[in-house]
Amino acid sequence: MTSPKKLFIKTYGCQMNVYDSERMAEAMGGQGYVETKTPEDADMILLNTCHIREKAAEKVYSELGRFKHLKVENPDLKIGVAGCVAQAEGQEIMRRQPLVDLVVGPQSYHRLPELEAKARTGKKALDTDFPEEDKFERLKSRPKAQRGPTAFLTVQEGCDKFCAFCVVPYTRGAEVSRPVQRVVDEAKDLVDRGVREVTLLGQNVNAYHGEGPDGTDWSLARLIWELNKIDGLKRIRFTTSHPNDMNDDLIAAHSECEKLMPYLHLPVQSGSDRILKRMNRSHTAESYLRLIEKIRAARPDILMSGDFIVGFPEETEADFQATLDLVEAVRYGYAYSFKYSTRPGTPAAERAQVDAAEADDRLQRLQAMITRHQREIQEDMVGRTVNVLFEKPGRLPGQMVGKSEYLHAVHVDDCDAQKGDLRAVRIQASASNSLSGRLVG
Ligand code: SAH
Ligand code: SF4
Ligand code: F3S
Repeated sequence: MTSPKKLFIKTYGCQMNVYDSERMAEAMGGQGYVETKTPEDADMILLNTCHIREKAAEKVYSELGRFKHLKVENPDLKIGVAGCVAQAEGQEIMRRQPLVDLVVGPQSYHRLPELEAKARTGKKALDTDFPEEDKFERLKSRPKAQRGPTAFLTVQEGCDKFCAFCVVPYTRGAEVSRPVQRVVDEAKDLVDRGVREVTLLGQNVNAYHGEGPDGTDWSLARLIWELNKIDGLKRIRFTTSHPNDMNDDLIAAHSECEKLMPYLHLPVQSGSDRILKRMNRSHTAESYLRLIEKIRAARPDILMSGDFIVGFPEETEADFQATLDLVEAVRYGYAYSFKYSTRPGTPAAERAQVDAAEADDRLQRLQAMITRHQREIQEDMVGRTVNVLFEKPGRLPGQMVGKSEYLHAVHVDDCDAQKGDLRAVRIQASASNSLSGRLVG
């Protein structure tokens, strides 16, 4: 019997790439590959890449350079680039780095086995089409391996919003939703394999409008209510949402749907209307704040999370102050802030850039405020009882780690809960990035 070939996948970028990497590993499983955690013993290396900021894209080339000696040691090693850099740069990647045998875009990775076979014949293989066929369906035949308690499930891809700074509409293409039944079937299959919590993914997940069993388009809220019926599934989350697609039925689901968790990632990017307009966000700071009021009226304990860009072209100190004001008003449990990065081909790339040192300074000030809120919100959890879905053993003997409904990591010592159990925990302390407590009852 020949030993299986080994596949090393490294994933950059967002959760959709994490999901895609799992699917690519499964597709290659059908070709006799098993996953390895080290590139050194791999027969194939796949980088699943991100193009969102300049640094993310540059990382790919420095990483590829580090594989040079591996190819000298093992001439049969094949190197592939997948994901959003693959989509954005295509053939250019092979020109810049001749080590690369295969380039596959995010919409065509179901063709990976064919591309790998082509690369094995010594030819370069490239596919960055946006094909008509459903990549998810093509990848259905997969091994029924047991899974951990949490899983991502992509329900929507692509974006039609064209924010002036963002490459996603170009790398992931137009908005597409998967049909309801396919999502439900996949969720049931995940539950059969041990999953207790699914996070529904999409670049604009709340714009979901998949075809329902009745032939009409279903909203994300309706999909969530359908998933809520699945026995054995205990928690539902979704990410990332756009403020303009936050409909009343979805807000109502946050108050009424028992399995939908009280956590919402709702990026706003800036608190200045002038900048929001230039970003082509088509909402204002005021409309965003009103929306959050409405969401909190429906679910008062909801934990908000967001994304911010500082140093967007033409951003003044006054614009930045407006962002700080908005953050102060919302108080995010988590927030991710980035320095604006010029992306070739996007409208904002042509405009007057903010001084880099100034942008760094703003980023630091914003992050300090966000960290303070984050810490205060965590500390407010002390003394409260939360529900924890246990995911894995902690570093200390007898310790288990899981996530609360608010997505805080929670450590419990002397814990008799098993992986996948949902248990009440009384919070006793807050550390910088996690909480700790004791099982109740
Ligand atoms: N679809 C999601 C996420 C898009 S990418 C949304 O609309 O919110 C994730 C985050 O990266 C964005 O929310 C934004 O804050 C950041 N981002 C995107 N393009 C960027 C750029 N050119 N420079 C810096 N940050 C960027
Ligand atoms: Fe990018 Fe804007 Fe689309 Fe989000 S909504 S993926 S930031 S273009
Ligand atoms: Fe990056 Fe592509 Fe996701 S650019 S953030 S991997 S959609």
